[in-house]
Amino acid sequence: MCGIIGYVGKQQALPILLEGLKQLEYRGYDSAGLAILTGEGLQVRKAVGRIASLEGRVLAEPDTHVLSGSVGLAHTRWATHGAPSEANAHPHLDSRRHIAVVHNGIIENHAVLRQFLERAGVVFTSQTDTEVLGHLISYHMNGDPPLHSEPSMHTILPSGQSSESGVATTQPKAPADTRLPTVDLSPTNGSAPGPEPLTLLESVLAALSQVVGTFGVAVLSLDEPQTIVAARRGSPLLVGIGKDEFIVASDAAAIVAHTSNVIYLEDNEAVEITPGKLRTVTLDAVPVSKTVEHIAVSLSEIELGNYRHRMLKEICEQPESLHNCLRGRLDALGHRVIFGGLASVERELSRTHRFLLTGCGTAWHAGLVGGYLMEDLARIHTEVAVASELRYRNPLIDEGTTLIAISQSGETADTLGALREVRDRGALALGVVNVVGSSVARNTDAGIYLHVGPEIGVASTKAFTAQVAVLSMLAMWMGRRRHLSTERYAELVHALAQVPTQMAEVLAQSDRIAEAARKVYAQENWLFLGRGYHLPVALEGALKLKEVSYIHAEGLSAAEMKHGHIALLEDGFPVVALAPQGSQYEKMLSNIEECRARGARIFAVGTRGDQRLRALVDEVFEIPPLPEPLQPLLAVLPLQLLAYHTAVLRGCNVDRPRNLAKSVTVE
Ligand code: G6P
Repeated sequence: MCGIIGYVGKQQALPILLEGLKQLEYRGYDSAGLAILTGEGLQVRKAVGRIASLEGRVLAEPDTHVLSGSVGLAHTRWATHGAPSEANAHPHLDSRRHIAVVHNGIIENHAVLRQFLERAGVVFTSQTDTEVLGHLISYHMNGDPPLHSEPSMHTILPSGQSSESGVATTQPKAPADTRLPTVDLSPTNGSAPGPEPLTLLESVLAALSQVVGTFGVAVLSLDEPQTIVAARRGSPLLVGIGKDEFIVASDAAAIVAHTSNVIYLEDNEAVEITPGKLRTVTLDAVPVSKTVEHIAVSLSEIELGNYRHRMLKEICEQPESLHNCLRGRLDALGHRVIFGGLASVERELSRTHRFLLTGCGTAWHAGLVGGYLMEDLARIHTEVAVASELRYRNPLIDEGTTLIAISQSGETADTLGALREVRDRGALALGVVNVVGSSVARNTDAGIYLHVGPEIGVASTKAFTAQVAVLSMLAMWMGRRRHLSTERYAELVHALAQVPTQMAEVLAQSDRIAEAARKVYAQENWLFLGRGYHLPVALEGALKLKEVSYIHAEGLSAAEMKHGHIALLEDGFPVVALAPQGSQYEKMLSNIEECRARGARIFAVGTRGDQRLRALVDEVFEIPPLPEPLQPLLAVLPLQLLAYHTAVLRGCNVDRPRNLAKSVTVE
C-alpha cells in the first residue's frame, strides 16, 4: 500500500526513481510524485493517476535538465487521508520548502499535530496525515518556526495553465522571525529545538518521537543536500547497497534491478544515507549494526515477459510456483512431509489442541480451506477468523492454542495486529508467508515460506494455491503425529506431488474458459456455490471476479442458497458451481438442479469425464480426479481464469483494479 523509493548515488536520480515507481506501482496507483535535490533547489513533480502520467509530464518538460540531481525521493500513493489529487500526492513539503517527505502508513495523531502547527502559523496545503511530518521535521531542524505558507509552489498545474511550465522550483529562503508558541509537544528524546540546529537525522527522530501511528518514511532536505533519512514503524523499508549508491525502498521490487545486497530496517529503526556511507540507529538514536542480506528475487521474476497481464502470468506460472513451494518439503518417494522451519517448535506443536487460523482477503480464504484440512486430516479443533475481527474481539487463548497467520505480503496491518494480539495472550504463533523477512515472518515463533516468487498482480492467485498447499502439508504432518493412517498419509503425499503437473492440464482450458466468459461477461450479478472444501473456493472465485471485473459476485454454501439467495435466480443468471466428485457430490448435483429449474446459466468445475454433471450444466471446466482434501488446489484455477477473462472482456485493468492495493498496511 503506497510505494517509496529514494536514491543517493552518482547517477541521475530521475530515471531510477521513475523505473522504481513502475515496479512499485502495484502497491498503490492513484497518484505519484517525486522530489530531486538539484543545483536549482528542490524540484518537485506530481501527477494524479498512474506512474505513466507522472513520467509523461516530466518528459514533456522543455528542459528536463532542471531535474538533474543524484539525490531524490518518489512515491506512488493509495489514498487513505484525502482524495487522490496532486495536492494530496507525496512528496509533502514543509512551509519553507526545504524538506520533502514520502510516507506509507497512518499518522494517527495527525489532527492534534496539525492543530498545533496551524496555531503556530502553518498553512496546510493538503488533506493528508503525512503533511504534518514535513512541518514537524522543519520545526526541529531549523530551530525556528515553520513559516506561513505561500501559494502552493509545489502543486503542479495541468499543462497549459499558468505557473509557467507548471513546474515547481523551491529555493533556499531566509527563515522568518515568527516564533512558535511554547506547547507541550516538545520532543520526548530531549532534542528540543535549541540554539544548535539539529541534523536531518536528529530532526526526523525528534519529529517521529511525537508521532502516534505507523510509518515507513523517507525524507530529504535542501539543508543537507547529500542525505536521505528513512525510518520505519509498522511499514516495511529496506536499503539496497550498490556500487557507490544506495536505494531505499518499501519493496525489493524497486531495488533488484540495481543490487541484490540489502539491509532490512526493523520497526523503530532509522537510517541515514549519504554518498558512500550508511548509518543505522534506533528511533531513540542508539546505533544499531545491520547484516547485509541477499535478496533472492530476480529481475525476470518481476517482469511481465510475454504475458499480457501480470495476473495471467501469475495464474499460468502456478505449476512452477507450486512445484517450488513443495520442493524439499514433500518427499514423495519416502511418502512424507518435511518441515525444517518447524523443527524448533515441534514440542509445542505436539501439545496443540486448537488451531486458530487468520488472514485477510484471499489469505483468509486459504485459511478456511486450512480449517477443513486440519479437522479432517489432523483431527484438531480449528477455528478460522478474519484478522480484523480476531484482533478486537477479546479472543480466548490458552497455551495449547497455535495461531497460524497467513499472508502473502507479510505486511497486512490487520493480520499483523491479530498476530500480535493472540501471541501476547500466550499462543504459539506460526506464519505462512511469501515475502521473506516481512513483518509477519519476523513476529512469529516459526513458519513456512511459500517460495512462489514475487506476486505482483493485485488479485492474489499463485499465493492462494501455495497457502493451501502449505496448510495441506501441515495438516498431513500434524495428522501423521496423531490419527492419520500410514496409507492415507502416503496417498495424500503422493497425490499432492502430482498437483503441479495436473495444474498445467487444468490451465490448458484457458481458451474455452474465455469463450464461456464471453457468454456472461455483461451480467452484473453472479453466484458461486460450493460445499465442504469447496465453499472457500466459491468465496475465492467470487472475490477474484469482484476484484478485477467489478461485477457483484457472492460466494456461498450451495446448501444455504435455499435460505434466501435463491430469490435472485432468474433466466440466464450466472451460477458457478464447484462440483468435483467427493463426499458432497450428490448434494451438489441437487443444488445445481435447483438452479437449473430457475433458468440459471450454470458453469461447473467438475471431475474429468463426469457425464452426469455435463448433462446438467452449460459448461464444465474439468479437473483430474484427486483426493477431496486436495481438490481446492485445482478447482480454483478455472475460477481465476474466468475472473481474468471476464475482466479483460469488460475492458478492466486487471493488474490495477480500481480502489485496490496489493498490500494493505493500514487498518
Ligand atoms: C489485499 C489484497 C488481497 C489480499 C489481501 C491480504 O486486500 O488486495 O488480494 O488477499 O490484501 O494480503 P496478504 O498480503 O496479507 O496475503
